Amino acid sequence: MAETLFFSSTSKDKRYAELLPQLQALIETEENPIANMANFCAALKEAFGWFWIGFYMVAGEELILGPFQGPVACTRIAKGKGVCGTAWAQEKTILVEDVEAFPGHIACSALSKSEIVVPLKKNGAVIGVLDIDSTELATFDLLDQTQLEKICQWFVTRL
Ligand code: SME
Repeated sequence: MAETLFFSSTSKDKRYAELLPQLQALIETEENPIANMANFCAALKEAFGWFWIGFYMVAGEELILGPFQGPVACTRIAKGKGVCGTAWAQEKTILVEDVEAFPGHIACSALSKSEIVVPLKKNGAVIGVLDIDSTELATFDLLDQTQLEKICQWFVTRL
């Protein structure tokens, strides 16, 4: 396994195309889900440099913080609360262009301005969410949603 990732393109769609095979090579040789979630976050950080990238995993009626890259974050989020808890409850991706305009947004950092949360669905049930925050407004769009959903659909098979 090559532990160094390589990115050459500046366009977002090409970055995703460069990322996926490298992510698969990194993760498909390892069985441990925590190691895989940790490297997943680090690879996305290297590819895109977003402010915060991490997992919250379902535990009963809460999400609990998992591996992440970025500043310290809140550890528990109830179902239906914040962007993460809403994505879990609604079982769909939530794109937030301006976190201040999202009712109930949980501000782990005042620097976060926009966010995308993708639920991780395994055998029909949400087992966690991937949460990504940016310090810029409207960082994420439908291209990110489509690409991240595709990556997550594969990634849950490694959890
Ligand atoms: N903003 C999220 C909370 C998690 S932090 O962004 C890392 C939310 O509203 O669910």
